Amino acid sequence: MTPLRRTLLLSLVASASALACGASLAQAYPTKPVTLVVPFAAGGPTDVVARTIAISMSKSLGQTIIVENKLGAGGTIAANYVAKAAPDGYTILIHHNGMATAPALYRKLPFNPLTDFEYVGQVLDVPMTLLARKDLPPNSFAELAAYVKANAKTLNLANAGLGAVSHLCGMLFQRALGVELTTVPFQGTAPALNALLGGQVDILCDQTTQTMSHIKGGTVKLYGVTTRERVKILPDTPSLSEAGLKDFEVKVWHGIYAPKGTPKEAVDKLNVALRAALKDPAVVARMTDLAADIVPESKQTPEGLRVWLQQEIEKWGPVIRSAGVFAD
Ligand code: MLT
Repeated sequence: MTPLRRTLLLSLVASASALACGASLAQAYPTKPVTLVVPFAAGGPTDVVARTIAISMSKSLGQTIIVENKLGAGGTIAANYVAKAAPDGYTILIHHNGMATAPALYRKLPFNPLTDFEYVGQVLDVPMTLLARKDLPPNSFAELAAYVKANAKTLNLANAGLGAVSHLCGMLFQRALGVELTTVPFQGTAPALNALLGGQVDILCDQTTQTMSHIKGGTVKLYGVTTRERVKILPDTPSLSEAGLKDFEVKVWHGIYAPKGTPKEAVDKLNVALRAALKDPAVVARMTDLAADIVPESKQTPEGLRVWLQQEIEKWGPVIRSAGVFAD
């Protein structure tokens, strides 16, 4: 063999083994547990969604998904943490509309939702419910609206912090009634709902993924749902839009994110696991009980999430800016 032929042969062998090694590394993902970061308190609606899909996704990935709650600043602490985590597929984030409202709410946001993440896919759409403590006098939405206007100075409204969907919903509710109530922020609606049950706060807008059992158990008063249409499993409850708050609509959507630069192989495997979880009969049954809708398949993709996020940023930015609300 001539020296030239020998060199060519050696470099071909070297490239082939490098390719094989790269391929087997990619195939090997995940080789250890994956951490799914939840930006709100354990036991709350985002946490319920995260833990339900984590169990199912773990089966497809062949590795445990550990759910970690990182609280504070309306979800931005968790999002920033994941944006800056190693881009190796082992730290991922579940977040809701807060990812789209943060750029308008925070003047000094330490991450960019559109450039600092890889997108795994969308998960669920969840209605919210407008609730009050059980002993609040009004018995219908019309009575509540009159009562809130008459008692605006003494009533308070709980939420999960600036940038949470409970904050957004409460803000739109107050604006629609032309009132300003005292706001009591918590680090998730799990502690906010506990305060409502204990009578320490008066009103809370919260997702059905947490509120259904309390609605069924009669431990809270329910005045309306925030989706434009009624919710199938709450047929007697009016939508707020139908009850008098024209065009009122808040629907909570969830997406899964990985830090920018996470290898495509890892994102693809996470996406396959997500899509399998959204077909898992156990997940479907649990979410149906909680009035949550699994998003259409076209939204369960990285591109489906990216495009939706961009649209939501464009939708909510002007609404928040016109309300003049800032979180920082
Ligand atoms: C919210 O209001 O943003 C959520 O309900 C947060 C949570 O999961 O607690």
